[in-house]
Amino acid sequence: MSTAISPTAYNYKVVRQFAIMTVVWGILGMGLGVFIASQLVWPELNFGLPWTTFGRLRPLHTNLVIFAFGGCALFATSYYVVQRTCQTRLISDSLAAFTFWGWQAVIASAIVTLPLGYTTTKEYAELEWPIAILLAIVWVTYAVVFFGTIVKRKTKHIYVGNWFYGAFILVTAMLHIVNHASLPVNLFKSYSAYAGATDAMIQWWYGHNAVGFFLTTGFLGMMYYFVPKQAERPIYSYRLSIVHFWALITLYIWAGPHHLHYTALPDWAQSLGMAMSIILLAPSWGGMINGMMTLSGAWHKLRTDPILRFLVVSLAFYGMSTFEGPMMAIKTVNSLSHYTDWTIGHVHAGALGWVAMISIGAIYHMIPRLFGRVQMHSVALINTHFWLATIGTVLYIASMWVNGITQGLMWRAINDDGTLTYSFVEALQASHPGYIVRALGGAFFAAGMLFMAYNVWRTVRASDPAEAEAAAKIAVVGAH
Ligand code: HEM
Ligand code: HEM
Repeated sequence: MSTAISPTAYNYKVVRQFAIMTVVWGILGMGLGVFIASQLVWPELNFGLPWTTFGRLRPLHTNLVIFAFGGCALFATSYYVVQRTCQTRLISDSLAAFTFWGWQAVIASAIVTLPLGYTTTKEYAELEWPIAILLAIVWVTYAVVFFGTIVKRKTKHIYVGNWFYGAFILVTAMLHIVNHASLPVNLFKSYSAYAGATDAMIQWWYGHNAVGFFLTTGFLGMMYYFVPKQAERPIYSYRLSIVHFWALITLYIWAGPHHLHYTALPDWAQSLGMAMSIILLAPSWGGMINGMMTLSGAWHKLRTDPILRFLVVSLAFYGMSTFEGPMMAIKTVNSLSHYTDWTIGHVHAGALGWVAMISIGAIYHMIPRLFGRVQMHSVALINTHFWLATIGTVLYIASMWVNGITQGLMWRAINDDGTLTYSFVEALQASHPGYIVRALGGAFFAAGMLFMAYNVWRTVRASDPAEAEAAAKIAVVGAH
């Protein structure tokens, strides 16, 4: 315990900062999602200005929801979990503070540069080289704080949640650094160090593993801590969690080529990506089952605990999207789904159903503990949020399935003489109702975030952080 730095046991300050920013960026990122979804219904909303067009705001949406919202949730929960499960304070308060301010600086730079049109054009890696370098420095510092804390742990074992967080941190560093190798020509423009099919392969090795390690492995770390905690039950099988970990990280890294079916990528690489994606179903479902079965004997709690509902429903969506993904990786299925809204539906089944829901559940679990309250200001409001989020997700993904399959079938329909049955515009017109339903679903989800912000604000306003830290101190002292 670093009593010289602070009289408190854990560094909760940085956890509080990241937790609050999760809510703030969630509202902005999802609000922007609703806006770009509305642009696809009413193109007038592009306003005829370059920086408000769909093409520039779309990458801002993905950066805000993945890196700002998802990233802050991962920082907040990993710092919370590593301290509590290692029974020790973060190794350095100043390095932890640097990761907070550095990460916010990266996000602020994205908000400025992406609408202005500065982009590497690589999806999920759009930020230009000076920002990418800052991001790399922040990330390496994060690794030092996280692993440094693990090293000075007071417990014998490293809890499995930390294994998942650790793999997420290490692999994200590797992906980011390799995929960003580039040649700057000026302050705002760089060109990839790789060319042609190699560039595409490295980009989708990055892109897929950003999904696998940023949007999955990190959140599984969250699952392994917050599901047992909220259910007040030990994890169903510790042995399964170890098998789950090694199988998941071994397999994910090979699946990237499923993003490049029927391209210039060698055929064997595409088939390998497809095979590995299908096998990936097994560890994914192993993890989901481990989380679900943790509720054995605690299912009745779902009736009264909306936080637990968030966590369990997120696992259900995780199971669903990791079933859908391997199916879409089959080349013949992908020939129908690729380029269509089916992919967008799959993305948001994972993003809204899994990533956002588990983060929301974890933040609701942490906020009272971080701010010295017994529970959130209003459990009824959490319940309202839960239903808005669930209905919103279902509206989003169901409309995108209908749109995706409609588009895929209309694009491939041909007449007897070999000409296309439908023009592109006809498929677009058929998609219009689906876009309205998607925007509505998104609005439901984003509205839920506003309820969350109000509830968090009321909880924080009535809080006593000193009390929370004193309680944490007693917990640590008591453990020895
Ligand atoms: C209110 C909630 C949300 C709405 C309304 C929304 C809406 C949208 C829209 C309209 C697109 C562009 C689709 C297209 O190009 O046809 C998009 C793309 C995307 N969104 Fe969201 N989104 C929401 C939340 C999220 C969240 C929470 C995440 C991640 C955690 C996320 C991740 C993504 C990703 C990764 C893409 C790019 C998909 C691709 O290129 O295949 N979104 N979103
Ligand atoms: C076993 C697990 C999974 C497999 C095998 C898988 C497979 C796939 C496949 C085949 C595609 C379509 C590629 C294309 O046609 O371009 C895709 C797209 C995508 N998936 Fe998954 N998926 C899995 C789980 C997930 C999860 C849990 C998430 C989110 C949290 C997710 C997020 C995405 C995103 C963001 C894309 C769009 C990438 C882009 O084109 O921009 N996937 N996935």
